[in-house]
Amino acid sequence: MNEARSIRTIVNGKPLEISVSPNETLLEFLRYRLGLTGTKEGCDTGDCGACTVLLEGKPVNACLVLAVEADGGTLATIEGLSSNGELHPLQQAFIDQGAVQCGFCTPGMIMAAKSLLDEEPSPSEEEIRLALAGNICRCTGYVNIMKAVTAAGQRLRGSKQG
Ligand code: FES
Ligand code: FES
Repeated sequence: MNEARSIRTIVNGKPLEISVSPNETLLEFLRYRLGLTGTKEGCDTGDCGACTVLLEGKPVNACLVLAVEADGGTLATIEGLSSNGELHPLQQAFIDQGAVQCGFCTPGMIMAAKSLLDEEPSPSEEEIRLALAGNICRCTGYVNIMKAVTAAGQRLRGSKQG
């Protein structure tokens, strides 16, 4: 059975009804059908984290999830983070802290970090390391990424208090 199936999903706040093939991965769906190429295709085997997006607020490797699994669910990708032309604090912090070099890992890193900060606005260093353990960066050495997530958490906490 290889028949297309219609799914309903919300992508970056926009409701969508679209037919997908049963063996289409979420990564293929996002990049090649919706044109959301911010989500990167690295290993395609669940090892690098470059394809990390949020499904129901939780990070998933989009290369390991089928598009049909998003039926009835809510998806968030890097394209949905900025609002009114302003970068999300995580995006800004990655720039400010020099946590972006080639940038290939960055969307996945930021989505994994977003899920963490949504749940724990004041994470310990260990919690940040754990949250990003599935995301590989070949350029930065991770130090500036840790700094960026910490700084974004501080900024987000500040904006909630103030
Ligand atoms: S492309 Fe999905 S984990 Fe590497
Ligand atoms: S910035 Fe190049 S892989 Fe992370």
